[in-house]
Amino acid sequence: MTDIIQELQDRRTEARLGGGQARIDAQHAKGKLTARERVELLLDEDSFEEFDMFKTHRCTEFGMDASKPAGDGVITGWGTINGRMVYVFSQDFTVFGGSLSQTHSEKICKVMDMAMRNGAPVIGINDSGGARIQEGVDSLAGYAEVFQRNIMASGVVPQISVIMGPCAGGAVYSPAMTDFIFMVKDTSYMFVTGPDVVKTVTNEVVTAEELGGASTHAKKSSVADGAFENDIETLTEVRRLVDFLPLNNREKAPVRPFYDDPARIEQSLDTIIPENANTPYDMKEVILKTVDEGDFYEIQAEHAKNIITGFARIEGQTVGVVANQPMVLAGCLDIDASKKAARFVRFCDAFEIPVLTLVDVPGFLPGTSQEYGGVIKHGAKLLFAYGEATVPKVTVITRKAYGGAYDVMASKHLRGDFNYAWPTAEIAVMGAKGATEIIHRKDLGDADKIAAHTADYEARFANPFVAAERGFIDEVIQPKSTRKRVARAFASLRNKKLENPWKKHDNIPL
Ligand code: HXC
Repeated sequence: MTDIIQELQDRRTEARLGGGQARIDAQHAKGKLTARERVELLLDEDSFEEFDMFKTHRCTEFGMDASKPAGDGVITGWGTINGRMVYVFSQDFTVFGGSLSQTHSEKICKVMDMAMRNGAPVIGINDSGGARIQEGVDSLAGYAEVFQRNIMASGVVPQISVIMGPCAGGAVYSPAMTDFIFMVKDTSYMFVTGPDVVKTVTNEVVTAEELGGASTHAKKSSVADGAFENDIETLTEVRRLVDFLPLNNREKAPVRPFYDDPARIEQSLDTIIPENANTPYDMKEVILKTVDEGDFYEIQAEHAKNIITGFARIEGQTVGVVANQPMVLAGCLDIDASKKAARFVRFCDAFEIPVLTLVDVPGFLPGTSQEYGGVIKHGAKLLFAYGEATVPKVTVITRKAYGGAYDVMASKHLRGDFNYAWPTAEIAVMGAKGATEIIHRKDLGDADKIAAHTADYEARFANPFVAAERGFIDEVIQPKSTRKRVARAFASLRNKKLENPWKKHDNIPL
């Protein structure tokens, strides 16, 4: 009996070494943690329960049968984050470069299947050279098995991908189908084809970092939702994100204790809107002053900064926040902003997270680059996402709500539950100057007449009262009481029930 227990201990010790001490040292030398260290940091202390620690690959090609490391390059299991269950897989770069074999895939699929059955998020830590070259099509099949599960799990349990090393070729498509992707600056990259292939095919010379590093994906491509300095910071941020989310689509997000008075009056909001309607102000300040304890978890902070998306809590309950940012592009909606916010709203709706929308939008960004890029279709994504969402929707128009963008931004007409406006709101087809130049074109040569027409338009339309008279705005509220009004609105919507008509699925303009 003691012998067999000793054998278990010995086997475990060997398995924990992965590809051996030299490769672990090499991993550390690159500033990266090992797969096991990452799991330990991600999960609550001593909460990790491992599966398939002794599973090995079955490949006999290229002399592979001579090397069968226990675990086959991926550590899988479950544990808790602040006491709440999550499933996890973490690829071990020290074993065949973390490459994906058939058995490696089977291990990942097992935790994904369990996550679906038991209703808990899946967190995948990716650090892999891609398909296990020696296994050929078996490896490709293994990837496809993972892809299929990503698709089935989408909208059922939250899926989070953490990129902590190379992620190339088709391997990027599993993370791409998950809800959130976090990357580590300087040590992780994602691309469909690497710099060498790019050079051969297009003659472009580009580094791996430029092509698919964390900054590239967090700023330009929007593939990544966040980029962080190192493994430790990244995993800490994943823990923070998980705290905001429900475990699955049938549970509510956890309600956390809060110490911020829901009726808190915020005097400074009464003066935040500048005298001049074209002067920007920071919408983040409005968010921070409205939500519990000023705690806002931003998603895609570096991409399409003209719209802000992220999670916060009001009376301890998670809400998704979408807000135009007048500091960037005057808060216009463009292709990137529409896609960013649409995806965020759809995530919130899939997981029953209420949405707070703060509006200061002068319209869609004009221009050939936007039109050629398909702003019509991309703008429609956001319109569609808001319109199909059945979660509680509370909207506050702080200043401009012009044209189609007024409709899009969770207006009453898209089933907004509470549509508030500050007295500074301007709800109209367009700004006074543009409107005057169109409807009084004949007076364009006469500056005095144009000024009079503009003033007249401003007085008649650049306010919230026309919309309020029609019931499109439920109430014009004092800026300083925004938190209180929003908190009461969400509280009143806790039992909201709204269903869309039966359909196989919708056809959102992709
Ligand atoms: C088997 C692999 C491997 C792979 C790396 N290794 N990638 N083994 N299959 N795909 C092994 C190496 O042989 C090496 O073994 C160890 O992992 C570490 O690799 P190094 O090259 O020494 O590390 P590094 O210099 O850091 O370079 C990492 C790397 C590079 C950039 C990932 O290894 C690389 O380019 N690998 C191949 C990437 C690739 O082309 N993959 C296929 C993509 S196509 P030893 O024993 O020396 O330590 C794909 C299709 C998926 O993934 C399709 C899904 C639809």
